[in-house]
Amino acid sequence: MTDFKRTQSLFYIPDGVIYLDGNSLGPLPIAAADRVHRMMSEQWGNELIRGWNSAGWMVQPRRIGDRVGRLIGAPEGTVVIGDTLSIKVYQALAAALELNPDRRVILSDNGNFPSDLYIAEGLLKSLDRGYMLKIVAPEAVEDAIDETIAVLMLTEVDYRTGRLHDMAALTRKAHAAGALTVWDLAHSAGAIPVDVLGAKADFAVGCTYKYLNGGPGAPAFIYVAPEHAEMARPALSGWMGHQAPFAFDLDYRAGSGIERMRVGTPPVIAMAALDAALDAWEGVDMHEVRKASIALADLFIREVEARCPELTLASPRDGNKRGSQVSFRHANGYAIMQALISRGVIGDFRAPDAIRFGFTPLYIGETEVRAAVDAIEDVVVNRRWDSAEYRKMALVT
Ligand SMILES: Cc1ncc(COP(=O)(O)O)c(C=O)c1O
Repeated sequence: MTDFKRTQSLFYIPDGVIYLDGNSLGPLPIAAADRVHRMMSEQWGNELIRGWNSAGWMVQPRRIGDRVGRLIGAPEGTVVIGDTLSIKVYQALAAALELNPDRRVILSDNGNFPSDLYIAEGLLKSLDRGYMLKIVAPEAVEDAIDETIAVLMLTEVDYRTGRLHDMAALTRKAHAAGALTVWDLAHSAGAIPVDVLGAKADFAVGCTYKYLNGGPGAPAFIYVAPEHAEMARPALSGWMGHQAPFAFDLDYRAGSGIERMRVGTPPVIAMAALDAALDAWEGVDMHEVRKASIALADLFIREVEARCPELTLASPRDGNKRGSQVSFRHANGYAIMQALISRGVIGDFRAPDAIRFGFTPLYIGETEVRAAVDAIEDVVVNRRWDSAEYRKMALVT
């Protein structure tokens, strides 16, 4: 049984704050601060350049990749950490397209995270081989899979609404039509049970700063299915993905398997924080996390709908069709969220009108959900949001 009291004690949440934004940035794992401090003083400070060998910095991307892999159903040696998610999307899509050379259509949906679509657009333009990015509504994806599709590129959980795609079913359909798949698990890893191997995903990518609590700008991960590992050509052929980086050859030879998806020097300090954050998952059963997160979100939906009829549910009502977040729509959503944040209830806002709340049983319980709804009711019903200070748009929403 997962001990959620124990996991709650592992995170620092400031007094007076109810944190419902782990779907954007996970809170600080208490052990991470000390780990980073020790890494800097003991490893960087004392070991200096020797740390690449003596402190294992060089093998960190693979070692921590395996730790993330365990949370997404990936076998050992199929996940590597590094760079940002946008870069990992580029690598995965570029490799997938080359593995399906006779087709020209990439299928995605308008619930995908815009950066994934921008990256695809940029890559296709550089390739200049007549590729086309076809974007349909999330509900239309299944019917749009046909023999023209080279790659199906989707984010499993919609960042705006939490709507969940059926990764296994869509991958099955894509494969039957001769297409490969690239899955973005940014809102899945650490939020819901994921089984990339069982679902037969060809490529999967994700970030570690949301539900994995690796900290702002924490590095991303990429998974390559075992059957593609030695075939996938790395489009970003940096020296760390070379078979022998320290041979300093003048030409590129791809490293073996997942190693080739490394690009340049890994962010060692950030990885120390991520490594400490991943300790929180020891002894945690992802199916229990899922069950608890659905119960918290269901309670939240029920209470908000009963007490704030002005808010319209934007997320699927059925918990099994939702990730770990719930969104409501309101024309003044931005101001409502600012008023909530000023009261210590932290969620976020996604244009044009969605207020978004994440439910992570690792550090949130029923008490926090009920207190958050009290604040939401006060802000919405008593129009506490209706003031100029809450309408001022910040750079990050
Ligand atoms: C689903 C999804 N894909 C891609 C990205 C972009 O990630 P990054 O900024 O780390 O490149 C995000 C960022 O939040 C995201 O939520």
